[in-house]
Amino acid sequence: MEVVICANYDEMSKQAAQVVADLVRAKPDAVLGFATGTSPIGLYKELARMHKAEGLDFSEVTTFNLDEYAGLDGTHPQSYRRFMNENLFNHINVPKENTNVPSGTAADWREFCDEYEEMIIDAGGIDLQVLGIGSDGHVAFNEPGSSLGSATRLVYLTKQTLDDNSRFFDRPEDVPRTAISMGVGTILEAHQCLMVVNGANKAAALAAAVEGPVTSMITASALQWHPDTIVFCDEPAAAGLKMRDYYDWIQKQKAAGE
Ligand code: GLP
Repeated sequence: MEVVICANYDEMSKQAAQVVADLVRAKPDAVLGFATGTSPIGLYKELARMHKAEGLDFSEVTTFNLDEYAGLDGTHPQSYRRFMNENLFNHINVPKENTNVPSGTAADWREFCDEYEEMIIDAGGIDLQVLGIGSDGHVAFNEPGSSLGSATRLVYLTKQTLDDNSRFFDRPEDVPRTAISMGVGTILEAHQCLMVVNGANKAAALAAAVEGPVTSMITASALQWHPDTIVFCDEPAAAGLKMRDYYDWIQKQKAAGE
């Protein structure tokens, strides 16, 4: 894993957006995997800015989102479909029909999840998957104990995740208890993964994911098996990294063209 420690959230967002933009310029019909949460909002803002100011073209892009709350339809204020529309899709020129967010209201979960996996395969696989990390080390909604080979499925959220996400809902009891989530195995199949991590509350999870053992207890640690993962984090999130000096040294050498 490549770890890039950025001065602050803005810098992290800009550097991460640059990776996405470079791919879209090189491959206009790229398949992008997107994540929700507050971590990638700055990245999405920067992509929207690049679209407006630099003409970054998403007209041939296809997108797949990681997850959606079960029971919420796409118009619900806290649905991840609505989040993506408001934070990114409404501000760039990706055709809405090319954007895929798991359905929170499918009649048959199993059938829907199998179809979602098929759709990703039919699109040629995900070229670049954007990820955040939960404070318990989860990616997408793959909570501790999720199989590292898991595919898209219905998952039960942990108490920790329900608490973390209750800030977005009027009442804690409104947070859906289940979600549809790409599996760890689905994410590992993406050609490249890009994780954005900010804030002191993510320091322990990031250190465990990057430098701890690969374990289903920290599902983000499975990225250690991924051949091409880059992590952009801010200073507070980097606080627990033991190899920090080494990561900085690598970036210094790269910048110097060595
Ligand atoms: C949810 C999402 C994850 C996200 C995590 C962290 O659990 N399913 O994809 O990474 O929240 O969110 P935030 O970036 O708001 O801390």
